[in-house]
Amino acid sequence: MHRLGRYIRFCVNPFLAGESDGYNSYSAKPCGEGLALYMELGVELAGKLEAETGFVVNVSDIDRVVRAEAVPIFSEHIKSEYAERRHVDLAGLAELMRVVCGKLSGRFGDGTISKLSLKLNPNREIALDSDKAKEVYFSEKFEFAATHKLWNDSFSEAENFERFGKCANPNGHGHNYIVEVTVKGQAGGLGVADIEKVVAGELIEMVDHKNLNADVEEFLDINPTVENIAVFAWEKLKGKFGGAELHCVTVWETDKTYCSYYG
Ligand code: NI
Repeated sequence: MHRLGRYIRFCVNPFLAGESDGYNSYSAKPCGEGLALYMELGVELAGKLEAETGFVVNVSDIDRVVRAEAVPIFSEHIKSEYAERRHVDLAGLAELMRVVCGKLSGRFGDGTISKLSLKLNPNREIALDSDKAKEVYFSEKFEFAATHKLWNDSFSEAENFERFGKCANPNGHGHNYIVEVTVKGQAGGLGVADIEKVVAGELIEMVDHKNLNADVEEFLDINPTVENIAVFAWEKLKGKFGGAELHCVTVWETDKTYCSYYG
């Protein structure tokens, strides 16, 4: 079984009289002209390879179907809500995603939708994991800067440098960490700011501009590796989102190294 992903980027501009389609789907099509709502719809399809082509589904067919069926659903709904001066909240977007998922279901030959996501900005997305899913996933990235040192007192100095390399530097070293928090739920209750407040207050404040080994109690005896930081973040955040449930925490130590923890 393969999972093929395709991102469809588009803009909705509620204030343009007609659509300005544009000519660059890599950027956004419709292009939205000046200031517009930019979104990226991700369609992931699970399926077997077609022997003749080596495709799960031809990506041109994904584009064609999604642009014909899904983009207008977002565009028309957002335009009509804006015309009535109504805000489109997370629950409203989740409902649109379900409609879109139903509309796209069965449209890709033997490929079935394994994930449908909508990027609202580079650091925030909502997702469904199939066309039957009731639950909605909301993910957002946060940053913090911290110092750490990887060391084990039961090793000799030489062994510490051998195991941990440059990360064993006695005076520590810094990283600009990125944390992506994913909560799942019915998307009815929580707003973006509610989720951000929990993560900022319960996690980021504990670690930002800190020496993890010295300032954070949990790391006095264990190494603040990216693996252990992901668990630490999970423990700080689980059960804190009211009706929504913590689903996953991913910590990037650099853009080459990350660890995800699902509890
Ligand atoms: Ni390090």
